[in-house]
Amino acid sequence: MTGVLITKWDGDEAELTRAAELYARVFAEQPYREEVEASRTSFMERIRRYGASKPHLRLVLAKDGADVVGLALGTGIAAGDWWRDRIAPLLEHDARARWFGDGCFSVMELAVALAHRRSGIAANLMDALLKDLPYATAVLSRYAEAEDAGRFYASLGWREIATGIRIGDSPALCVLARDLR
Ligand SMILES: CC(C)(COP(=O)(O)OP(=O)(O)OC[C@H]1O[C@@H](n2cnc3c(N)ncnc32)[C@H](O)[C@@H]1OP(=O)(O)O)[C@@H](O)C(=O)NCCC(=O)NCCS
Repeated sequence: MTGVLITKWDGDEAELTRAAELYARVFAEQPYREEVEASRTSFMERIRRYGASKPHLRLVLAKDGADVVGLALGTGIAAGDWWRDRIAPLLEHDARARWFGDGCFSVMELAVALAHRRSGIAANLMDALLKDLPYATAVLSRYAEAEDAGRFYASLGWREIATGIRIGDSPALCVLARDLR
């Protein structure tokens, strides 16, 4: 992590473009294999849309000089959120109430450039992303196949609350949750 700074995105457009480039590069890897140009465009479009429609948007960046080498993205979610409304009904009543409640924080994206992995960047991004939020819990889904991500979240104490879930024709997903207080 030497020389890498963790900062909240301040709305700078050039920095958002660099973040989108990192995002597209990372999610072109296995097991995601997203098409680079489409994922770059959809990342930027989602940031704008979430900023206008969801509470507590946070985009945290890891920067090595001007280079964006990591990012973490999340927002508050409640009933009406597309992802939440597909995942929450699949859980038992108690788990749904415990983790989703009337609202919670959704971690939507996490990515670190290949050359910078295993130096604590993602752990620091998650600390900054989840700090001082007005929610009791955080939730996320990951591809079941994404084993590095699984080991990462387990190392930070995230609990698996559902597995083998599919949304439409998505690959199998694991749903993870943790307390924020
Ligand atoms: C998952 C990811 C974000 C982790 O980023 P990172 O900066 O390398 O993670 P950190 O260095 O902060 O790791 C913290 C701890 O998590 C665990 N961990 C992280 N990556 C791991 C791996 N590949 N294998 C085993 N444990 C791992 C370790 O316990 C690690 O501590 P250690 O290095 O002291 O042993 C990164 O691998 C990545 O961008 N993957 C591709 C995108 C992705 O899958 N994103 C998540 C989508 S849900």
